[in-house]
Amino acid sequence: MHQTLNEHIPVLLEAVLQYLNPQAGESYLDLTAGYGGHAQAILARTKQPMEATLVDRDANAIKALADFANQGATLLHRDFLSASEHIVAADQKFDIILADLGVSSPHLDNAERGFAFAQDGPLDMRMDQTQTLDATTVVNTYDAQDLERILREYGEEPRARTIAHAIVEARPIDTTQQLADIVRAVMPKSISNRSKTHPATRTFQALRIAVNDELELLRASLPLWTELLSKGGRLGVISFHSLEDRIVKQAFADVAGDRYDADLQLLTKRPVVASRQELVFNPRARSAKLRAVVKK
Ligand SMILES: C[S@@+](CC[C@H](N)C(=O)[O-])C[C@H]1O[C@@H](n2cnc3c(N)ncnc32)[C@H](O)[C@@H]1O
Repeated sequence: MHQTLNEHIPVLLEAVLQYLNPQAGESYLDLTAGYGGHAQAILARTKQPMEATLVDRDANAIKALADFANQGATLLHRDFLSASEHIVAADQKFDIILADLGVSSPHLDNAERGFAFAQDGPLDMRMDQTQTLDATTVVNTYDAQDLERILREYGEEPRARTIAHAIVEARPIDTTQQLADIVRAVMPKSISNRSKTHPATRTFQALRIAVNDELELLRASLPLWTELLSKGGRLGVISFHSLEDRIVKQAFADVAGDRYDADLQLLTKRPVVASRQELVFNPRARSAKLRAVVKK
């Protein structure tokens, strides 16, 4: 099938179908429905759009999911923590739950969303554009210490202090290109030349995580997701960097460890990663890791 650059290809789709094993008649909760790639494949098997709830914090994604709503699915334009709290309060359970974390291809491909250093755009990085905090505010108003902490904790950036001071000195900073240039300028030439990744990769990751409060939302949501599973229900989480994966691994170990009385059982002893074949047509799957549990 021909794929255009802007098309979102669902990552680890075969593995998701294998581990979550959707069956006709089952209910489905997609916590990061995006452009509906996984949802489409899963609903083709459950054949129960009325029993599906699709969540996304991005209004553009929710618009793109309108066809699912026309078939009876419930759409929730919320972050997945507040959506999960809402569903727990309604005492609803699901047979299949999926969270495919992070940004979507349209976020990265649209310069005006401000996620990518490859193209110039405003420093935005909000997944939910109704929220007030954006990357411009973080970069232009946080003090050097806070910026350093963000770069170190969320970007694991060894040069966090140098970059934080360079940012403070260069203010005001309005565009992704300006920020990328500031970071590149303070990186030793040996690193810029040797590394295959852009020297600003870690800085952009860190700011994105801070703007969207990604790790805290994930940490707080995981216990709710296991609570939302029906008996025999399967939960899969796809993460894209080690900070997220560590949180998922720990949460699953807490509830699905080797204890005989554990409520849940691990379906993936090790995280599932993309095959070489998948990487050829979907390079975004390079860092994807799927972990899954089943409720006993
Ligand atoms: C990797 S994409 C999902 C793609 C989707 N699985 C598909 O196949 O089309 C991640 C989506 O999750 C959304 N998202 C990320 N964090 C979120 C959160 N905390 N709450 C709700 N949605 C979130 C993003 O807006 C994005 O649309």
